[in-house]
This record gives sequence, structure tokens and C-alpha cells, in this order.
Amino acid sequence: MSLRPILTLPDPRLKLVSAPIAKITDETRALAADMFETMYEAPGIGLAAIQIGEPVRLMVLDVARKEEERRPMVLVNPEIVWSSPERSVYEEGCLSIPEFFEEVERPAMVTVRFLDAQGAECEMTADGVLATCLQHEIDHLDGILFIDHISKLKRDRILRKFKKDAKRKAEEDAEGSRTVVA
Ligand code: NI
Repeated sequence: MSLRPILTLPDPRLKLVSAPIAKITDETRALAADMFETMYEAPGIGLAAIQIGEPVRLMVLDVARKEEERRPMVLVNPEIVWSSPERSVYEEGCLSIPEFFEEVERPAMVTVRFLDAQGAECEMTADGVLATCLQHEIDHLDGILFIDHISKLKRDRILRKFKKDAKRKAEEDAEGSRTVVA
């Protein structure tokens, strides 16, 4: 297992549509193990493979509270097969958009079909935080971020800030390398 860097805005890979996993192998399980380590360390309650730069339809999550025992879940090729007409609102954040939180409205319940880490076909109906987390992570597999569900005004403000930060960091890195060369 190893800790992997998490991609953040404005990394264009976050907009990629991830490819289905044709065969679940030890490599898939090793990737999931890296994702768990990275997610728990962050800490977060869910992580999609693309967030560590792997464009495959794999996600991990654990919505157990801090005082509870861990409940790690691996979902391969997850698909939402039913959404409730009732909706709910949660304040969401994202490890790829550090320090930003906004209320997002989504279906309150979903049924998700997926394969587990052994390749067994599973189906799960969830509500509450789990339902929101499942939808948030499945969105990642389609290149959709939670800020795509908020107003354009708020989204543009967040995007501008991350682009500015990235530009400043690139400039600092360039200066740093000049110093080393000198
Ligand atoms: Ni996220």
C-alpha cells in the first residue's frame, strides 16, 4: 500500500470519463488499497480512482463515524439503477477541491449496482450520507465535480481561485529552479 498524491483543481484529468474495468485482478485490489490509504490519511469518506490519476471506474468509501469501526467498501463499475424522486441537501466537500464546501441537492435515495473487489455482483440501496457519497463518487467517474451542481456564479469563483493558485505555484516553482541553477 502506498499513499498517493490527490489531484486537485484545475487538473484537467478530473474532467475525464473513466473506463470500465474489464477484469478485476490483484492490480485492481492493490489500487483500491492505495486509495483507502490515501482516503483515510486525507481524511475523506470517499475517493474515486481518477482522483489519484487512474482513469478507471473504481471507487472506495467508508462513511463510518470516527468513533465507529471502519466500514471500507470497494465499488467497481458502479451504476445508479434507481434514484428516488425525493431529494435531500447535504453540504459537500471534495478532496480534489480542498477547503470548499457548498450545499448540493441530490436524490435522497439511490440503488447502485456494482462489482465488489472479488468481482461478485452486488446491489445496494442507500439513503442519507451514503446515498450522497455514492452519487458524488460516481459523478467523479464521469468527470463531474460537486461544483458542477451549484450555481455558475459560485463555480466560476472557485475555479478562478484554483487557477490563480496554480499559476502562482508554477511561478514560484520556476523561480525556485532558477535559484538552484544559479
Ligand atoms: Ni470528490
